[in-house]
Amino acid sequence: MIIRSINLETVCGITSVLPDNDKPEIAFAGKSNVGKSSLINALMNRKSYARISQTPGKTQTINFYNINEEMYLVDLPGYGYAKVSEKEKAQWGKLIERYLHGSSQLRAVFLLIDIRHEPSSNDKMMYRWIVEQGFAPVIIATKLDKLKRSQIQKHVKMVREGLDLVPGTKIIPFSSVTKQGRDEIWEFVETEYLD
Ligand code: GTP
Ligand code: MG
Repeated sequence: MIIRSINLETVCGITSVLPDNDKPEIAFAGKSNVGKSSLINALMNRKSYARISQTPGKTQTINFYNINEEMYLVDLPGYGYAKVSEKEKAQWGKLIERYLHGSSQLRAVFLLIDIRHEPSSNDKMMYRWIVEQGFAPVIIATKLDKLKRSQIQKHVKMVREGLDLVPGTKIIPFSSVTKQGRDEIWEFVETEYLD
């Protein structure tokens, strides 16, 4: 994808009305700190347009990035951050559910999993939830640069087995440091989800 323009067009919190967009949306889900905003920056060729921080729980809204007036990359709030109150967690959960269930333009959901670790119970729940909403999520295994080359296959298998993925589900290893996997993600989005 050649990026000609980007615009953070809509930011939705727990009480917001979700936008009724007329262009395809591609969403990114995953636990807090897994690298969703970093991935979106990499896809947009920007260093820090989508906000990143050392503090998990940074993205507390659903952010819609308009790309080339052609489509949206959608940054979902991260789940599983311990320091957030139960009430807040429930509100974010409802917001994410409302979006996954209600968007008429949502074409695909990518689920991000840290390649270093076994998927958590929250990851498993999120995966099942996305599948139940009728999507066939592609898994992005993030922070690839943190592994030695020789460990990659073992960890990809661990993610596949940990999530009990539907056979044939694609896993794309990715690093926002080296940008490895970026072109494959764009190519997949363009060939599978955009007309
Ligand atoms: P929330 O907004 O809290 O849900 O987090 P997020 O999923 O958007 O994560 P974010 O992109 O803010 O990244 C969290 C931290 O992980 C930051 O310190 C990033 O620099 C770091 N990080 C993200 N991706 C990678 C990666 O591929 N490799 C390495 N080494 N660090 C990464
Ligand atoms: Mg974020």
